[in-house]
Amino acid sequence: MREAHEPAPVRLIINGRAETGHVTPRTTLADLLRHELGLTGTHLGCEQGVCGACTVLLDDLPVRSCLTLAVQAEGARVDTVEGLAGGDMHPLQEKFWKHQALQCGFCTPGFLMAAVAAVREAPAMTRDEIRARLSGNICRCTGYQPIIDAVAEYSAELGERGERS
Ligand code: FES
Ligand code: FES
Repeated sequence: MREAHEPAPVRLIINGRAETGHVTPRTTLADLLRHELGLTGTHLGCEQGVCGACTVLLDDLPVRSCLTLAVQAEGARVDTVEGLAGGDMHPLQEKFWKHQALQCGFCTPGFLMAAVAAVREAPAMTRDEIRARLSGNICRCTGYQPIIDAVAEYSAELGERGERS
């Protein structure tokens, strides 16, 4: 019989690919992604659910991967920043580049994933709606305006075309 602290397999679909990790009951989703699967695009800042740097999508919903246990993701779809673009930059990444919405880039993967989820749910958001939707993500560099500019332009373009991210 397996002891409680011994790693056990967890199966998930990460960025569209079936993956199996080996985790203890206390392994976080962030640690599974970064340490076992090498997906270091998901950043860890506060590790206590405050900064949003570790945001990934779990079955299309944004979650703090530092607070989510890997076993909670068993059988689920997990999308990380590595899966955003299929080679070239994702259109939202292009907007971040155009508007200089990043400086050190530490917060950027979390902002991108949170914004993709927000726009998917509600394209053509107002700036106030974008601020509210991204209020759980902290940036220490940009002053937020360029990030709002980038998401607003992306959101408006999708809204005009009647598309979702
Ligand atoms: Fe997860 Fe800050 S590292 S919220
Ligand atoms: Fe540095 Fe946001 S770009 S923390």
